[in-house]
Amino acid sequence: MTTILGIETSCDETSAAVVTDGTDVRSNIVASQADLHAKYGGVVPEIASRAHIERLDSVITEAMEVADRKPDNLDAIAVTNRPGLVGALIIGVTAAKMLSWAWGKPLIAVNHIEAHALSPAIGLDEAPWPAIALIVSGGHTSLFRIAGPMSIERLGATTDDAAGEAFDKVASILGLNYPGGPEIERVGAGGDPQAIDFPRTMLGPESLDFSFSGIKTAVLYHVHGQGKTTGGLEELSQDDIADIAASFQQAVIDVLIRKTMLAVKQTGVSTVVLGGGVAANRTLRTALADECTKRDLAFHAAKPEYCTDNAAMIAARAYHQLLAGDIATLELDASARG
Ligand code: KG4
Ligand code: ZN
Repeated sequence: MTTILGIETSCDETSAAVVTDGTDVRSNIVASQADLHAKYGGVVPEIASRAHIERLDSVITEAMEVADRKPDNLDAIAVTNRPGLVGALIIGVTAAKMLSWAWGKPLIAVNHIEAHALSPAIGLDEAPWPAIALIVSGGHTSLFRIAGPMSIERLGATTDDAAGEAFDKVASILGLNYPGGPEIERVGAGGDPQAIDFPRTMLGPESLDFSFSGIKTAVLYHVHGQGKTTGGLEELSQDDIADIAASFQQAVIDVLIRKTMLAVKQTGVSTVVLGGGVAANRTLRTALADECTKRDLAFHAAKPEYCTDNAAMIAARAYHQLLAGDIATLELDASARG
């Protein structure tokens, strides 16, 4: 049995987890900072770094206690070192280096997006690969072909805003709280997804890349009037706002599903997996599951607790790196880019 302690501090969740054999989650402690950033309408990097410093120690202790593991039981320490907010990443990387040195355990550097890509496999009895992975988060929107856990090939990515970023920005336009994704989903549940025909940007018939800045601007002008950026929100009723949220969400989901099916067609792969923060969205999960059933494709969505940022996916991804001998040195640095 191989047991790994994972640490995640790339954005506004401070998280530590203990995972055995890359799939059996023994603990997954997540301290969200959403309340600290809400009043600013988005993540403030300095506040994020400070909160990671304050919380990480106790989050790691709790992860070890819940898993009932002592340092001697661990086979490695894994940490997200890229991509993310560099000042936030450094907190996790420094803690992981220190524990690796003090406890004499190998250090594993994990790419946050690759961890999201493998997250739908956590807890499954059988690995779902090969699969097309749709990974939709606050910072990234990507399609991958995953041949196996050490073979993750990017097929397409966003050319501007990520899907989660679009949810957050549209929520802000509609006067809803941060983070916007869950708010759009909550408010949109009472609206009509066909009420407004927002643009579905496809970037060409065979493109697997995404663009979500056009739809964000379309919502902005729908609310305030063409070419205007303020003044319209007061005139909208709660029902109007619900219709806009539902129609925006539907437009994004339509694009995500069409692109995923295009990737399936181009590659001939017959399994689809879904992960990343936006994958917590129930309408997206159900719509993609239905489309896969219709086309006779296997489908696995990451469990909701492994969609938004968490350290379980970091330890799960690191297991395969450890087996492959992909060990970092104590010179390890954090990097804002992937
Ligand atoms: O993966 P994640 O926790 O962090 C990044 O790596 O970026 O994703 C966070 C994003 C945020 O933009 C948030 O609004 C979005 O995921 N999100 C959702 C939902 N829950 C979180 N978007 C749509 N519907 C949701 N239920
Ligand atoms: Zn993430």
